[in-house]
Parts: sequence; C-alpha cells; structure tokens
Amino acid sequence: MRHRFHSICPYFAMFPEQFVQKHLIWSKPGDVVLDPFVGRGTTVFQALLEDREAIGGDVNPVAVCVSRAKASAPPLSRVLRRIHELEDAFDPRRAAPYPGLRDFFATCFHTATWKQIRYLQANLGWRQTATDAFITALLLGALHGESHKTEWCLSNRMPRTISTKPAYSVRWWRAGEHIAPKRDAFEILRELAVYRYASQAPTRKGVVVQSDARKLGKRLPEYAGRVTLMVTSPPYLDTTNYREDQWLRLWFLEDRLPETSRRSRDDRHRAAENYWQFLSEAWAGVAPFLASKAHLVIRIGGKRVSQTEARTKLTQSLRGALKRRVRLADEWSSTIVGGQLHSFRPGAAGTKVEHDFHFVVDR
Ligand SMILES: C[S@@+](CC[C@H](N)C(=O)[O-])C[C@H]1O[C@@H](n2cnc3c(N)ncnc32)[C@H](O)[C@@H]1O
Repeated sequence: MRHRFHSICPYFAMFPEQFVQKHLIWSKPGDVVLDPFVGRGTTVFQALLEDREAIGGDVNPVAVCVSRAKASAPPLSRVLRRIHELEDAFDPRRAAPYPGLRDFFATCFHTATWKQIRYLQANLGWRQTATDAFITALLLGALHGESHKTEWCLSNRMPRTISTKPAYSVRWWRAGEHIAPKRDAFEILRELAVYRYASQAPTRKGVVVQSDARKLGKRLPEYAGRVTLMVTSPPYLDTTNYREDQWLRLWFLEDRLPETSRRSRDDRHRAAENYWQFLSEAWAGVAPFLASKAHLVIRIGGKRVSQTEARTKLTQSLRGALKRRVRLADEWSSTIVGGQLHSFRPGAAGTKVEHDFHFVVDR
C-alpha cells in the first residue's frame, strides 16, 4: 500500500516518491538527505521512511507545514486528543467575520463550516507544535476540492490542486448554481487522521524550516558537511506561481488575503539568465551541507528549457557555486504526461519537460 501520508495535501510540480526511492541508493541508513526546495516533502519523508536523517527548507508556508507534518508526525492518539480538545472549546454561536472577499468566502463555505474554519485558523499553532502542524496539514488537504465527489472536503466545488481565483470562482459557482455543502470540519479531521495513520509514521523525525534556499546553510549549521545526498527540484522555469496557486491555503495559514500587485516571493524566473543565476546562489546556500563525494540529484522543469541548456547551465552553476569538482554521473529527460501535466495551473499549459541530472561532488 502506498504510504498514506504522501497525499495529505497536493502540491505543484511535485515529484513522485518513486523518484526519491530510486535515488536513495546513493545514501545509506543514518546518512543525512537534503531537499532545499522541499515542496510537499517527498524527499524528506521518503528518506525518513528508509531510515535516513532528513532536512529540508522552502519559502512557501504551505510546503513547510505539509512537509513538517510528515517529517515529525505525532502518535495518532495525540492527534485525536487534540482534535477533541479543539472541538470541545469551539462555540458555534460566536460570529466569524469575513476578512474581505465576502462574496467568495460566503459562497465557498457553508456558514456552519466557515465558523469552524475561522476558529481552527485562529487556534491551530502549526508553527509551535508537531500535533497542530499535522492537524493543519490535514485541514489544508481538505480545505478545497471536488466536494461533489468526496465527503472529505470543506468547500464548494473547486480543484484540490490549485485554489482558483476569487472572482472567477464566484462566477462559476453562480453560473452552475453550486452550493457549498455543510461539512463538519472536526469530524472530517478525525476521519482523515484515522485514514492517514493506517500507514505507520516513520520512527525518525526530520527537520523542515521556512527558509530561502540561498540562506539554508546558515539556518541549519549543525548539518554542515553531513549531507551525502540531495534530491531536489527547484521552482520550474516560467511555470507556476506557488503563492498564487495556493492562495486559499496560504490565507488559512497566514490570515492574510493575497496581494495581487506584490511581486511573488517565490523564485519563478521568466528570464532564463536570472533563473540560472538564482540557482547558482541556491547551490552556494547549500554548499556548507555537502559531504565529500555527495550525490546531487536535480530535476529541472520548464516550458522550453532543452536538455543541453539544462545540463550546461546546471553544471556551470554547480561548479561555480560549490567551488569543488563536480562530475555529471547520469542524466535523463522526460515529457510530462497525464496526471502530472494536469497538476500545473491552466495558464502553464505547455509545461511539458523535465530533465533529471545526477552529479557527484568528487572532493
Ligand atoms: C518544483 S517545487 C518542489 C516540489 C517538490 N519536489 C515536491 O515533490 O513537492 C519548487 C519549490 O521551491 C520553492 N521555492 C521557490 N523559491 C524558493 C527559494 N528561494 N528558496 C526555497 N524554496 C523556494 C517553492 O515554494 C516550491 O515549493
């Protein structure tokens, strides 16, 4: 059975656990495995399952919450106790004001469900405790989705992978006369917890921090020189905006509405030159972690990037940033088909290519 933590919450441009499994052979039990662009945490989680230590970072709080939930999952009994405690303290008579976007929120969620969501948003300390991080990740995975097909979803009909834009969503719901279902968030959280824990949580715990990859080495100095394997995929070139696509989940975590005019804080770069420059800086940021003979498995994706360009630029950026001898050991290229392709936002149609590279740091 596929481990049930993998699909707690979907994410963009995610790689499957088989990709990580395949490359874990470049490390041994007890080694430290790194992913500086952790996304939904597959590298970290799979490494822990296979008895490695694991560390990761990401700038996006959704990625950090979901990865942290998997990397430091508490016992099920504690999760259920905490859900019970939260439910006991919940008062459905209290008003739950709209933070703005009234039309959107009032059409997206049934009033009774909305009160529970606002209450959980205010009371889940996902940055403080592993138990609350796990419950929050469960909630993020259920916050929106195809509620006409599953009971484990809190919203009016919406894709589960991306949060559609507010005005568009309201127009679409009204045109189709879609009504938000009345769902009990506490009940759903309980059922989801029991379902997820049908797979055993790993005994090892990993470390996931909210950090720009360029600063990660400084954030976790205790791992200096200890990483023998990095498996990662940096933000895809000109493909997706991880904040915009996850705006509803981000709203839940930060209680801030999206600022459409602000420049994105994630590092999607439209100009290829800036992108490769960014990657050089990211490799310099993780350089302190790398043991001699470390293996680096890197997936590069984008709309137009060719395998030759990816190989050349990636090799240059690694050699320049690490200031060590770096040898290309293997490479593959693939066209994205089926499910993965559809996990990109609609505007990103044409995102079809992924190039994988395996480098070894020779000394
Ligand atoms: C291609 S996704 C990684 C997906 C991941 N491999 C998975 O399976 O879920 C790239 C990630 O890089 C993150 N990111 C973008 N800019 C970053 C930066 N400067 N430092 C760290 N993470 C960043 C994005 O938030 C996104 O989660």
